[in-house]
Amino acid sequence: MPLFKKKQGDAVQLPPPKHVAIIMDGNGRWATRKGLPRTAGHAAGSEVFRRIATYCRDIGMDYLTVYAFSTENWKRSQEEVSAIMGLLKKYLFEALEKMERDQIRLKFFGDLSRLSPDLLELIDRTDKTSAKYEGFQANICLNYGGRDEIVRAARAFARDCAAGVRKPEDLTEALFGSYLYSAGIPDPDLIIRPSGEERISNFLLWQSAYAEYYFTDVLWPDFTPAELDKAIAAYFRRDRRFGGVKR
Ligand code: FPP
Repeated sequence: MPLFKKKQGDAVQLPPPKHVAIIMDGNGRWATRKGLPRTAGHAAGSEVFRRIATYCRDIGMDYLTVYAFSTENWKRSQEEVSAIMGLLKKYLFEALEKMERDQIRLKFFGDLSRLSPDLLELIDRTDKTSAKYEGFQANICLNYGGRDEIVRAARAFARDCAAGVRKPEDLTEALFGSYLYSAGIPDPDLIIRPSGEERISNFLLWQSAYAEYYFTDVLWPDFTPAELDKAIAAYFRRDRRFGGVKR
């Protein structure tokens, strides 16, 4: 368990944030800089995901949410899209084999209907098999877009209204949240984007309302548990006021 320093005062052991979300960016640049095909960057990135998820579990975090494939990523070459889908399959195969050892609840956020039947079958199996693990949950966003998620939730609520199950005046922020992929999960405390880009890129638009952001130039394949410690240490130096006044 890492030791974090507060802004003023001595080093103290503080609990890590409950929910961290990461935009796993910079795989392509990492590979290009090494003279490798972009797909090699994604392969390295998927290993880093595995390491970071295990670390998050070990330091007592409750949730990790990662952006693995956006609704816009289909614009990439067929070769790159296939490579990412292949890596996801590989990861899920291995996760299923090591589930008993890793004890990680795996969930998937996004419009999964566009994924191939074999990947869908693996996702379904992983979802069901890992449902018994309650300690730590990793959410993998696949064919995910924040706006798309909000539109789908609005549609589902409208359908419930049309069916007489809900009334428009029932709608509150909490009820709307229950129509999102993240239903029942607390909002992320900290969102990390490596690779030097400082954009949200349609990630967790609803859920990020009060999240702290942390940006670093480190590329995702070079991201280590020590880098996560730095992000968490920076998080502890922030004053989270949720719209209130500093006391
Ligand atoms: C962004 O970097 C990364 C992606 C679009 C793909 C992320 C996918 C993986 C890490 C592999 C599978 C995931 C799991 C969870 C096993 P980029 O390609 O946009 O990098 P660039 O900005 O340097 O081009």
